[in-house]
Amino acid sequence: MSRILIQLISALFVISIAISVSADQKTASESASTITLKKPPEILAKWYKPANKRQVWLHTMFRLRREILAMNDYSAKGKQAELEKWSQKFIKDYQSIAEMVPQWQDYLYLDKLDDLKNAVKNKDYSSISMILKKTSKSCMHCHDDYQTVATLMFRSPIFSKRFISEGFSGEKIAYDDNMLQLSDSVNRINIAIKDGYYTEAHELIEPLEQQLEHLSTSCGDCHQEDEIPVERIMGASQSLLPELAELLELKEQRPAGGKLGEFAVKVCAKCHSIHRLPSDLKFLFD
Ligand code: HEC
Ligand code: HEC
Ligand code: HEC
Repeated sequence: MSRILIQLISALFVISIAISVSADQKTASESASTITLKKPPEILAKWYKPANKRQVWLHTMFRLRREILAMNDYSAKGKQAELEKWSQKFIKDYQSIAEMVPQWQDYLYLDKLDDLKNAVKNKDYSSISMILKKTSKSCMHCHDDYQTVATLMFRSPIFSKRFISEGFSGEKIAYDDNMLQLSDSVNRINIAIKDGYYTEAHELIEPLEQQLEHLSTSCGDCHQEDEIPVERIMGASQSLLPELAELLELKEQRPAGGKLGEFAVKVCAKCHSIHRLPSDLKFLFD
């Protein structure tokens, strides 16, 4: 009876090892084919618009880098008054990281601040740069874990939930649907050129221009103060599409195909490299 029990227990033990090994193997193979991103603590949002009036977190970061540079330069020159001033600023900003996001306290090398204070007080200029180099490792560790995701979450516009107004009726169309329409228009023109249907291709230009017009009105939702970025992209279509129309009238197949390609790169792909990639990535965090 007890032998059976022992056999049973040891059998279970073997099975449980087998399961845990296979679970380990699964995680190992999974981790080889997946990318894991860490999400910053929610409290970080408090230090960004719209929760805050300013991008407090980001500006603290810019100051930290400036302060390190100033301390390095002034310690090399032995300028005590300036060194004291910038080291005090640095200490305050560095400590503020944990005040803003307490969950990130462990990233900080707070003991290095005492080393810094002592080195400044004792005018030990030659050790400053080494202390700052060591402290800067803490910057790197946190950046490796969170910088990209934080930039995406708090400073990149998301487009998937946006709408575009169509024409005078003001009817709204989802951003993605507008994109699919644009894609169909460009592809239809491409197919017509390839098959020698020049008149049809020519007729398809106007609807494409209209779709682009609706799209460009929507850029102003965010770019109202500076029109140059929008002009750079949407303006290209205003010269390239009439040039395409001309080539189609002349039934110039290869040049027309080339012009359409140029349009796709300068208008569609350019905007995608700026706005689509971050928007697609940001969608992961919703
Ligand atoms: C505990 C986390 C953490 C620590 C420690 C940290 N940072 Fe950052 N840092 C961030 C995050 C998150 C961002 C991304 C902010 C954004 O893009 O809006 C960032 C962004 C920055 C940027 C902006 C980069 C750019 O060009 O857009 C600078 C500069 C910077 N950090 C400097 C520093 C310095 C210098 C230190 C160390 C003295 C430091 N940071 C320590 C989290 C941290
Ligand atoms: C704002 C600049 C911008 C311009 C100009 C632009 N796109 Fe897009 N496009 C985007 C963004 C942003 C997305 C991702 C939308 C999202 O996040 O859902 C996108 C997505 C797409 C998609 C994928 C849609 C889906 O649902 O899978 C296609 C296809 C597309 N665009 C085609 C085009 C074509 C073709 C052109 C040029 C005629 C063009 N786009 C011009 C910004 C732009
Ligand atoms: C949801 C808000 C939003 C919309 C809508 C939007 N943008 Fe942007 N765009 C931004 C932000 C934020 C930046 C980065 C800061 C900046 O340069 O203004 C940016 C940057 C850019 C840049 C790079 C900056 C430069 O000077 O070249 C271009 C180009 C651009 N946008 C074009 C467009 C075009 C074209 C459209 C419409 C088809 C558009 N954007 C629609 C928010 C938006």
